[in-house]
Amino acid sequence: MNSSKDATPKTADAGSIARTDATGGALHPDFLAWQTSLPIDQRLLDVDCAGSVAHVGSLVEAGLLSDEEGEQLRAALEAIPDKVRSGELELPMEEDVHMAVEILVKQLAGEVADKLHTGRSRNDQVATDLMLWIRLAGQELDARMAEVDAAARRWIERHGELAMPAYTHRQVAIPVLARLWVDAALCRPLARDRRFLRLLGIELARSPLGAGAIGGNTFETDNDLSATALGFAGGPLNPIDAVGQRDHAMTMGFMCARIGMHLARFCADVVEMCSDGLVELDGAIACGSSMMPHKRNPDLFELVRAQAAQRYGELVSLLTTFQGLGSGYHRDLQQDKEILFRSFDGTVNALRMVALALEHMRPKAEPCLLALREGDAIATDLTEFLVKQGTPFRTAYRQIGALVAAQRAQGKRLYQLTKADLDAAGLPHSLLEHLDPATSARTRAARFNSQLPSP
Ligand code: ARG
Repeated sequence: MNSSKDATPKTADAGSIARTDATGGALHPDFLAWQTSLPIDQRLLDVDCAGSVAHVGSLVEAGLLSDEEGEQLRAALEAIPDKVRSGELELPMEEDVHMAVEILVKQLAGEVADKLHTGRSRNDQVATDLMLWIRLAGQELDARMAEVDAAARRWIERHGELAMPAYTHRQVAIPVLARLWVDAALCRPLARDRRFLRLLGIELARSPLGAGAIGGNTFETDNDLSATALGFAGGPLNPIDAVGQRDHAMTMGFMCARIGMHLARFCADVVEMCSDGLVELDGAIACGSSMMPHKRNPDLFELVRAQAAQRYGELVSLLTTFQGLGSGYHRDLQQDKEILFRSFDGTVNALRMVALALEHMRPKAEPCLLALREGDAIATDLTEFLVKQGTPFRTAYRQIGALVAAQRAQGKRLYQLTKADLDAAGLPHSLLEHLDPATSARTRAARFNSQLPSP
């Protein structure tokens, strides 16, 4: 996929292709420069040319182009992306990538280029390009999520059996194994995201090519032919819908927002665990302070957490771009690509950073144990032990609650219980055998499926 950082096209050849007397002459250069989508949609260059090749195929099949003409156009279209990338050709300053490509086809193939746009409009062209791009973007997101998942599994291999505190309301709750945390914070949400992403395939099933500007055309072209050549199930079922709907863009924007939120929540965990001293970061991913020489801050996680806000903004931008538009194509729709590209790039980068971060963070065993002990994380296990001895739950709950309070009144915690403390509370000495947080974490973890999710 092309990077949005590709050089901005320089050649000015203002509006040379689709200007007729009816349009009132050449565009004002200032307006042309402002309204062009070329700096953004040049990223569609590959899919635009691929879409045109498929279109040429259906024109040949319908007898609107000779085989030879079809070959000339195809050869030009297939050569253009590499020639632009190498600098041999430059996309001319036009309203958009579609018109710029048509001019380049004319440079390479000559007069036959005038037949390329037969039966099609930029409206069905851009709708097709966007679908093709979203298909690729979905594959890339899936691959990036798979990388995070693989990094998370390696982390679990290294650290998964460590007992650490789980928090509710930011208060120490209960001992858990580290693998449960990373599985919950990353593996499972991303597995669900990857499953959800596959639904995009349903929204990308039908090629818009053949819908024309809004009402199709009068030629005998086979829309299913160009569609299947591009990997779609078939051509458009309704031309108005085909050029005007952007549901796949919204779904993609939502996916990016949801992935962003999942990463942000994982990052929020890490920021808090760093602050509590439970997790250690390598210098490779921790920024310092320009003033305070001792600082090692979880900037990566804070920045990824903040990225989610941008994804929500982009999703809202997309929705509000479409809001209020009647059916069919409107130039407003041009804006979808800028928003979507930013959303996609931001998501890919956030996923890359989280995959990197997993190789450079580790839980700290001693502070985790200390937090479990100081937080009396074992209290629920002790309560359940009494229940197994025959005490009704609510009674046991009150007894252990009183025990916690009595210990704290002496400046102690449950792990410091003595036989004398238990005698004073009228509780059995056997509770002393159930104070180990690691055993607690392992025992309860064993009650759950330890299989990591498959996407
Ligand atoms: N640049 C436009 C877009 O991205 C292409 C379609 C323009 N169609 C038109 N009738 N002006 O949406």
